[in-house]
Amino acid sequence: MNDNGMLNLLVFSDLHMENSGSSQDTRLLTEDDEFSKSILEKISELDVNLDYVVCSGDISNKSSPVGFDVGWKFVKDVADYSRVARENLIVVPGNHDHDSRLNNSHCPKYNLQFSVDDFPFPNKVDNTHFWAWNWAHKEYEEFNLISVNSSAFHGYGDEWKHGRVPNRTADQIRDYMKSEAVRKKKFNLLVTHHHPFRMDYVDQEEDYEAIDGGEYLIEAVQNSRKGPWLIVHGHKHFPDIKYGPSRGASRPVVFSAGSLSAKLYPKIKDRTTNQFYVLSVDLDATAKNGGVTGEFRTYEWTMTSGWRLSEGNSLPERGGFGSALKSMEIIEEVAKIFENSSKRIAKDSEIKHLNSYLKHLMPEDLEVLVAEFKDEGYIADISGNEFKEIGVSNG
Ligand SMILES: [Fe+2]
Repeated sequence: MNDNGMLNLLVFSDLHMENSGSSQDTRLLTEDDEFSKSILEKISELDVNLDYVVCSGDISNKSSPVGFDVGWKFVKDVADYSRVARENLIVVPGNHDHDSRLNNSHCPKYNLQFSVDDFPFPNKVDNTHFWAWNWAHKEYEEFNLISVNSSAFHGYGDEWKHGRVPNRTADQIRDYMKSEAVRKKKFNLLVTHHHPFRMDYVDQEEDYEAIDGGEYLIEAVQNSRKGPWLIVHGHKHFPDIKYGPSRGASRPVVFSAGSLSAKLYPKIKDRTTNQFYVLSVDLDATAKNGGVTGEFRTYEWTMTSGWRLSEGNSLPERGGFGSALKSMEIIEEVAKIFENSSKRIAKDSEIKHLNSYLKHLMPEDLEVLVAEFKDEGYIADISGNEFKEIGVSNG
């Protein structure tokens, strides 16, 4: 944790490493090719102290054993370049890491268990629990981690088409989290590969890949009553951030990491990019809001510019999560600036303090805020979760 109470997580997913000379599927060909080096170089230059590295699976492509071995080594290189210790590297396998269609072996997880002895956890006890029960818990200083293998049933029938977490597994996790064996922390982190809810909007068609039992799982972990949840997943190669369903005010934050290096398929290639993220959890604000609260930064790769802060909307360069504020509460503060005054544009000094209202708003909430400003007769120029200018609209 940094001095300012921020916990910084480097998040990436879906590498699809092949260890080949060329690939239709991925830009990440070998551990030391040009693209790999560009990722490590960018990460080592980040102006942030990273506390954890989170990788939500599909390290390998199409269950390539050598792709996994080389990809796993690369993931550990990412942690090294992030100056994050192995214990703080959090990783789960994806469907491409399993031999889902039994091409190379008789068991989908055979290579994952036998090729390396430090995956996904650094020690055998945690790994034995993970492979036996398809989930494992680890206590960190600031949070409890639940790692879930959403591809655990691949290899049977057409299971490869989607993720699965049986209700009994979710009940088991809930009961364990509820028990005295688990000490309450500032928040909880659940990492899994598949998405827990359908994402029909990605391909504009029915999405059958989501975790079967995903909604039950998210409800079950919330029922453990051990504080708020942040859920990180991959698989769709399409980034997103939203709140998951909750019966109460403490909504889980669901972060869909885009792909670090897969070549994006036609339906999404013009709508997003290859990306990685820095998620900064504000521990004080999280305690105050009762939901995981913080900010994110998106780094993207483009053919012309290499790695840079995102210039698109999916996802934007900066954004927030966890704010409990309503648009009208912010607009009422802005109205005070123009009260009993004929001025039409607010001074920089008058709007600076308002930025604290914006920093934990999700991108969607910012869009709604801009629209509501307009409805109320104001013009708000917002970028990077900050007000640039606020004025009164004509007429
Ligand atoms: Fe996947």
